[in-house]
Amino acid sequence: MIPIARPQMGAEEKERVWEAMASGSLAQGPRVRELEEAFAAFIGAGHAVATSSGTTALHLALLGYGIGPGDEVITVPFTFIASANSILYTGARPVFVDIHEPTFTIDTHLIEDAITPRTKAIMPISLYGMPAPMPSIVEVAERHGLAVVEDACQAHGAAIGGQRSGTWGAGTFSFYPTKNMTTGEGGMLTTDDADLAGRVRLLREHGMRVRYHHEVIGYNFRMTDIAAAIGLAQLPKLPGYNERRRAIAARYDTELHGVIVPTAPAGVTHVYHQYTIRVSRRDEFAERLRERGVGSAIYYPIPVHRQAPYRALGYGEASYPVTDRLTAEVLSIPVHPSLTDDEVATVIGAVNETAAELGPIEPRAAAT
Ligand SMILES: Cc1ncc(COP(=O)(O)O)c(C=O)c1O
Repeated sequence: MIPIARPQMGAEEKERVWEAMASGSLAQGPRVRELEEAFAAFIGAGHAVATSSGTTALHLALLGYGIGPGDEVITVPFTFIASANSILYTGARPVFVDIHEPTFTIDTHLIEDAITPRTKAIMPISLYGMPAPMPSIVEVAERHGLAVVEDACQAHGAAIGGQRSGTWGAGTFSFYPTKNMTTGEGGMLTTDDADLAGRVRLLREHGMRVRYHHEVIGYNFRMTDIAAAIGLAQLPKLPGYNERRRAIAARYDTELHGVIVPTAPAGVTHVYHQYTIRVSRRDEFAERLRERGVGSAIYYPIPVHRQAPYRALGYGEASYPVTDRLTAEVLSIPVHPSLTDDEVATVIGAVNETAAELGPIEPRAAAT
């Protein structure tokens, strides 16, 4: 079975981790600092703050902007639940708007209508490795005095016009094992705003700048030096990983038939954390791919507003037509950098044969 993800761990990771373990520096230490500096340089951001996960990076970004009870943050329901949960953790309320069909990211035309006097921030999701339309989001945010927290947890190295995700306000990244680069578990916040970075550093470590002098109530959201050691071995490999993902995606773009393939607007560098097609009879499609030895996954089978805790909060009845339609059609196929050319050919054959058997997706749903 060709798996949907296959984390890459080599001799460099082993060596770096062993070095960290042998040094005795196991919690947050010099390797975390080194990874922060290297990641900030890679992204092109002034500051990077490492955290225990992408979720905690999101949570701290919002707290760093002073967001809390009574506030609203605009985001989308077509994402992993952590995006919206991070808003709830602060006591603020997520306000959902629908997505733009061809790109799976926030529909910027819907943002302005969702702004109220309580709105404090916009949280676009750069989903599947496709950057959200950050320039127009920043423009709306500046006009209304709102913060921008880009959930770039799936978008390491993605860019618009050469400007990388994570440089448009605050950006957050996840280093979960299936991501474009990993630290096992881990996350990162990037920003050019030194004050924001300082507040996040403080909150990350129990509000402590001077040992055991606590300025505010903070958290333990630290990354370990062992995790950072993995990240230091992975980061130099990220550009090559992303190039391989993009090369596989380019083959899929031209060789897949009977399905809707993802499209990246001109000037956008998509890093294909996922290669997500749209198919008819999706569940049957996935089953037939499995029979042909090809793994696939649905990201995500239930949109956030219809998840049980959000239904309990009263979000369940709202209608987001594009989100609902795409939720029923999306299927991600393997695009990870360790795929061999033979495996890529197997995936292409399996998708094309299955689409021929089940029929092409209805033109009604075609991307416009
Ligand atoms: C879009 C998105 N946001 C947030 C997260 C949370 O990251 P983590 O799993 O590292 O907490 C993820 C990770 O899966 C994600 O894909």
